[in-house]
Amino acid sequence: MTSFPRNRWWVAGFSWELSSTPLARCLLGQHLVLFRTASGEVAALEDRCCHKELPLSMGTLEAAGLRCGYHGLLFDTQGRCIEVPGQQDVPARAKVRAFPLRERDQILWIWIGDTRDAQPEDEPPAYAFHADPRYRFGGGSFHYDAPWQLIHDNLMDLSHLGYVHLKTIGGNPAVHMNASLSVTGDTQHVKVVRLMPASAPPPTYTAAWPFTGLIDRWQEVDFRVSHVLVWTGGMDTGSGSLDDPARGGFHMRGFHGVTPETEHSAHYFWTVATNPHPDRKDVTQLVVDQTAATFEEDKVVIEAQWRNQQRFPGRAQIYLSIDAGPARARRMISALTAEPTPTVAV
Ligand code: FES
Ligand SMILES: [Fe+2]
Repeated sequence: MTSFPRNRWWVAGFSWELSSTPLARCLLGQHLVLFRTASGEVAALEDRCCHKELPLSMGTLEAAGLRCGYHGLLFDTQGRCIEVPGQQDVPARAKVRAFPLRERDQILWIWIGDTRDAQPEDEPPAYAFHADPRYRFGGGSFHYDAPWQLIHDNLMDLSHLGYVHLKTIGGNPAVHMNASLSVTGDTQHVKVVRLMPASAPPPTYTAAWPFTGLIDRWQEVDFRVSHVLVWTGGMDTGSGSLDDPARGGFHMRGFHGVTPETEHSAHYFWTVATNPHPDRKDVTQLVVDQTAATFEEDKVVIEAQWRNQQRFPGRAQIYLSIDAGPARARRMISALTAEPTPTVAV
């Protein structure tokens, strides 16, 4: 068993990834096959046929389910074998483990419990910006050869923009390092807010929005165990309040599903939604492309960081004020994965 928080919904991918072929994906150490039947139902099964153990992801999709690519056993979305070619009887034990998989706002959510019988008591979260008529969005995914929490560290401390993302959403490093910072939270959330009033708009912002001078810039990072919501943007300086949730200007709403694959690798599923300016209606693809380029830069840094941590194992890091958000997120995950203290009878 791996040390990830279980009994919760995790991001398994996006709706558009399930097409006419099954998708093999390892999530929280579970080797899975994800698929959509020809009748439209989505499912996640253990990627192992219960007959001779071929990966079910090598099979083919039918209206009723997934047919194994070796001897043709047909499995439904609950993992039950419903047909054995060449014999009438389906053995009672002919079934594979199924995991609850839901599709909501084009995000695929999988529920992974700590026992085979554990089942969700709630539905996965909604994500309004994929359906909000004011916004357009696009996205993609990255596979990381690095532990999942290094991605959290990166998202929870956006001061790195001024050094890593100068070509897109960066800007002046000094402005980033001196942004006002607030970190709040509870047992399931951490929120980091960084404000940069009267700063120069970075390249992506000027390409997407007709800013004429300095802008009041915000970054609000809302961390949950399975995903991180990042709301960034800017408006002409003095044109509104940075406390106003309905403020104007240019907005980027980031969805970041960070799902461990193994202890040392992860999936990063992201989208960015933006509100096109009336004079620049075609800007969505530019924002999506520049966001993808930005996240490529993060991947280069984070994977190099992980390789170096392996070259210098067990070495201590120093702590800076910019680390308040990442540290709080790490404490939250540690509390959720801590072994319960054994009760000692006296
Ligand atoms: S291995 Fe799947 S049907 Fe034989
Ligand atoms: Fe980044």
